[in-house]
Amino acid sequence: MMMAMKRQMNRRGALRTLVFASVCGGACGVGPGRWFVSGVQAGETAVFRMSFDDFSQLKNSYGSVRLNVPGIPSSSSQIVVTRMPGNQFYAVSAKCTHKGVAVDAFKKGVGLRCPAHFSQFEANGKVVKSPARSSLKSYKATYNGSDAVSVEFPNLGYSVATEFVEAGAGGRVKLEFKTLSGMDYSVQVRGTVNGGESARAQFSLSPGGSLSKSSIGGDGNTVSLYIAPTEDAGFITIMRE
Ligand code: FES
Repeated sequence: MMMAMKRQMNRRGALRTLVFASVCGGACGVGPGRWFVSGVQAGETAVFRMSFDDFSQLKNSYGSVRLNVPGIPSSSSQIVVTRMPGNQFYAVSAKCTHKGVAVDAFKKGVGLRCPAHFSQFEANGKVVKSPARSSLKSYKATYNGSDAVSVEFPNLGYSVATEFVEAGAGGRVKLEFKTLSGMDYSVQVRGTVNGGESARAQFSLSPGGSLSKSSIGGDGNTVSLYIAPTEDAGFITIMRE
């Protein structure tokens, strides 16, 4: 039971974001075979879908679960999701606004209680008992009317710096971005933004290195990846999941 719970709580598949690097070839006036690449920024919303098959606590009113969501921008990546009467769902950061200890999941008559100094909060994060003075950070939670709730984490934005580099026989495109711990990153290349064949790109970690990697785990630091595009133009997508 505990093992199954832990597996569910650490699932990454539902939280996915991506960012496009726009790229073009000769038409940009930089000569055939050269890719002109521009830095991009994304302020994206990541959606974490919680099926009630996985989180059975949410099948009934007053059910509540505390779980870890890798990659959300907080020193505490735990959230508490609670179902209240009338199909009201609330998702809040578990990080107590007093000294940062994780609050417990909701209990009827108690609310969300911090085990450190016993601050209490309502299911929607509103503080009702000190020493905490401010409410828990809340996230939008949307019920699909039947079997799942989706929690949104806005502004997971990150920027990608891109540049063309000469490397041996061919040019490569360098992609540089800051990673988040607990997330995996991969690169896809395709002909148009919303369509075309999408192919997972192999990359290296140095300008002239072997193009042998297909994904890399984030550790909170900035990484530089090098890909060797085979087409004159296209779009690069960095997948984060
Ligand atoms: S850290 Fe939560 S009440 Fe002090």
